[in-house]
Amino acid sequence: MKKNIAIFASGNGSNFVALVKAVKQRRLDCRISLLVCDNPHAPVLEKARKAGIETLLVERPAFASRRAFEEAVIRYLKAADIKLIVLAGFMRVLSPLLVNAFRGKIINIHPALLPAFKGAHAIADAFHYGVKITGVTVHVVDEEVDHGPIILQEAVPIKPADTLASLEKRIHQVEHRLYPRAVRLCLEGKVKVAGRTLKPRS
Ligand code: GAR
Repeated sequence: MKKNIAIFASGNGSNFVALVKAVKQRRLDCRISLLVCDNPHAPVLEKARKAGIETLLVERPAFASRRAFEEAVIRYLKAADIKLIVLAGFMRVLSPLLVNAFRGKIINIHPALLPAFKGAHAIADAFHYGVKITGVTVHVVDEEVDHGPIILQEAVPIKPADTLASLEKRIHQVEHRLYPRAVRLCLEGKVKVAGRTLKPRS
């Protein structure tokens, strides 16, 4: 039986689309059963509807506290039998509650070579800093932002002729290739975290 994964996204959703495509083309053997989104205006919502994937809009202000908000999300994910949470441009910090409930089963993609250039503007930060090499990182999520054991990482050189836009384009191309591979490794139980195998929950 195919394992259920949930993708969390807040914005454009190009990584979401890359994962949907990988499943369609059978490069990734799982079921994307849910898109969790915290932004009612995010273009990714329409992309999910077009792909026929259930969407769960989680608006933090609708809940009394972050705890109540995350408890509701956890209940929903458990009921949907989600084996892996894939953060794809989800711009909200996950609380220890959610990280604990899915310990080792949450992964994130970041458009820089972590631990360098954490945060929401990593491509621009690396570009303006003047580094000659940046890249893409996929990592297991822990309680810290853009932090946790690294699964895959790929370097992207910044060329003298690059503009921020041309660099962004190349970074996204690498992300779209790397993320399906990383998800597959996780689902196949091939990712070791602190001596443990990152296996789907039974
Ligand atoms: C991606 O570049 C992803 O790496 C980044 O948000 C973008 C989402 O793009 N994530 C972070 O910066 C996490 N700190 P998308 O909505 O087109 O997939």
